[in-house]
Amino acid sequence: MLSGIQPTGDIHLGNYLGAIRQWVADQHDHDALYCVVDLHALTLPQDPAVLRAKTLECASVLLAAGLDPDVCTLFVQSHVPEHTELSWLLECTASMGELRRMTQFKDKAVKGGEESARVGLFTYPILQAADILIYDADRVPVGEDQRQHVELTRDLAQRFNQRYGETFVVPEPAIGKVGAKVVDLQNPTAKMSKSSPQGTVLALDPPDVIERKFKRAVTDTGNEVRFDPETKPGVSNLLTILALATGRGVDDVAEEYSQYGPLKADAAAAVIELLRPLRERYAELAADPAGTAAILSRGADKAQAIASTTLARARAHVGLLPRG
Ligand code: TYM
Repeated sequence: MLSGIQPTGDIHLGNYLGAIRQWVADQHDHDALYCVVDLHALTLPQDPAVLRAKTLECASVLLAAGLDPDVCTLFVQSHVPEHTELSWLLECTASMGELRRMTQFKDKAVKGGEESARVGLFTYPILQAADILIYDADRVPVGEDQRQHVELTRDLAQRFNQRYGETFVVPEPAIGKVGAKVVDLQNPTAKMSKSSPQGTVLALDPPDVIERKFKRAVTDTGNEVRFDPETKPGVSNLLTILALATGRGVDDVAEEYSQYGPLKADAAAAVIELLRPLRERYAELAADPAGTAAILSRGADKAQAIASTTLARARAHVGLLPRG
């Protein structure tokens, strides 16, 4: 199993509920690898010093969230350069047409203009495919917004296998039934993302900030509390968050509320409790950056041992001459 997260901005509740929560649970049942995808971050402008610091911080937050380095493998993408080499072999497998259909590229390129978008933003899903295929992963736990990228990964694996013989495992996305798309508290028609400070609850936000963000959450017209993401996206989002944070069913939670105010207050309180252990452990981990760096170094060694074997197989199958 493999999954990844970009070290841009801060880890937020959408990342936590859509992905990281599953990662923590799954690490015990699967051979799990998780990577901080710093190379993906280069598809948009980054300050080098900030990128370096955020990469370490992101890894510390994942450890604070409950990833156990004795159980799973946690590493930084650029520490295992085999990913980028496999990415080239897959670039020569993918077509322009299928990349043009990637909605994330369309969304991000529209913002800055396609002419000036970095080529890496266009080819990024192929690097993501390499991240997955290089570990023979059959399960990829992600939020809904990554489904299309995992579908592309499946297509590339199948095409490569047909062209060159069995090389890659064809992976399946693992997308939770609830929480796969947490929406922005200020704009319930958009997914919660790193670019919306008021509508996004950060994993490291202090309790008073979390409370304020929930208090100001935009709800829907009418004052009925009902789970219906189509007509009541704001309220449904609050119900989803509260249900996940308390380990209950959405409909079960919905029955208890007749007004928005108490729902917002209880959702805030539940999220504060959900994130409390993470915040506390993070404070300890942040005081020991060398400890996190050592964990990442060990993780990269373990990951590289697998990656180099898969890469060697792919190189041989496409016909690259082995170095004598
Ligand atoms: P990234 O860094 O944008 O997000 C990390 C994970 O969080 C999920 N997520 C959400 N889930 C629910 N609601 C939301 N509002 C929300 N926002 C984000 C994402 O679906 C993701 O699972 N390209 C990927 C990183 C990546 C990757 C990989 C993932 C690179 N290589 C290989 C899986 C396998 C990305 O940018 O995720």
